[in-house]
Amino acid sequence: MIPEYYEFACPTKIISGFKALSNLPYEMSLLGAARALVVTDQGVAGAGLIKRVHAVFEGADGVIGAVYDETPVDSGSEAVRAVADAYRGHECDCLVAVGGGSCIDTAKGALIVLAEDSADLKAYQGAERFNKPTCPFIVVPTTAGTGSEATLAAVIRDEATRTKMALTSYRLFPDVAILDPKMTVTMPPHITAATGMDALTHAVEAYCSLQKNPMSDAFSQAAIRLIMRHLIDCVRNGGDEQARLAMANAALFAGISFSNAMIGVVHALAHACGGVCRIPHGVANAVLLPWGMEYNAGKAGDALAALGPVLGADATVTGAIGAVRDLRARLGELCGLPETLGAAGVEAEQLDAIARVAIDDGSVTYNPEDVTYDDALGILKNAL
Ligand SMILES: NC(=O)c1ccc[n+]([C@@H]2O[C@H](COP(=O)([O-])OP(=O)(O)OC[C@H]3O[C@@H](n4cnc5c(N)ncnc54)[C@H](O)[C@@H]3O)[C@@H](O)[C@H]2O)c1
Ligand SMILES: [Fe+2]
Repeated sequence: MIPEYYEFACPTKIISGFKALSNLPYEMSLLGAARALVVTDQGVAGAGLIKRVHAVFEGADGVIGAVYDETPVDSGSEAVRAVADAYRGHECDCLVAVGGGSCIDTAKGALIVLAEDSADLKAYQGAERFNKPTCPFIVVPTTAGTGSEATLAAVIRDEATRTKMALTSYRLFPDVAILDPKMTVTMPPHITAATGMDALTHAVEAYCSLQKNPMSDAFSQAAIRLIMRHLIDCVRNGGDEQARLAMANAALFAGISFSNAMIGVVHALAHACGGVCRIPHGVANAVLLPWGMEYNAGKAGDALAALGPVLGADATVTGAIGAVRDLRARLGELCGLPETLGAAGVEAEQLDAIARVAIDDGSVTYNPEDVTYDDALGILKNAL
């Protein structure tokens, strides 16, 4: 059924292909930019991926003004400030994030700091809280998970409060996203698995969200089909460029879906796990997704049952949840992806703090079922 009203946006230009990275200098010139600040991290640089970026600038008009490669896992407000300082110090005129969600969201934070000329990110938490024009922004994802290359969201850790701030604005959509399997083939199996499960969680949660619409549904379904078909191949054989390109597209589609439909209780809990115990985002989602689906089975039963066949199971809620559990178990066998919060390093004493943070997370607003502290704690206990 078509809802009475909905909105959908994806203003990001998508460039996907085996040689897509070579378009980077040209895309910069189309945006009127000539001097990039590349935002990356040690893992990405250590995998030789920044060398590949330098190589495409040989003989091009634009240049790399500087490389900031100190992004921590899970973007933090201090790194955001350092990126903004580097941008000003090296007189750059565009941001190019090369990395996973941590690098992309750090660049998004810097986009705000530079536009507003204020480092107080907390003031911009929530939806559409800043409105000054931003600098040109290109993203080259090196994980296939967050979809941040085509979302309006940035998730940034506030070091002072140990919570993750969520900032959303139409101004945070990157201008261009470049998907090139050369940039994801180096991802180790456990990161491939965890980030792939993050993408699956985006697609499933968006499909059950209170703000879903026919376009987000289509993107969710397309994402889920690709993930079920190609994620295991990427984990088994990291060098499989066809499977890598498919997963890069899957993460993108899931990002486009949830950027419009939003996410739910699984992400609220995963963000809280990240804030309180520094559990990697994808790992937390992988553990919590089947429990979140079970929790939502009452209010979102029809949507979950409809996802059964898309996930390769029968058209029932139990079929859908079983397919997710099976995928996770196979990933566990292949690369040790944890199946419980305990195995991921969470202690029973931390559940109370996680539940408290989770119920204040904006994502619960869009969850089909209401979520109280006791509900959140119940899901966490199940997942421990
Ligand atoms: N903005 C959004 O829409 C959105 C959505 C979901 C998650 N997030 C955020 O994104 C962050 C997580 O991002 P992520 O899951 O992409 O992981 P990540 O960016 O934290 O990267 C994880 C690790 O993988 C390494 N790595 C990345 N690509 C590699 C490659 N190709 N080869 C070798 N190593 C590589 C990195 O160096 C890092 O050590 C979290 O902060 C999360 O909250 C944002
Ligand atoms: Fe996510």
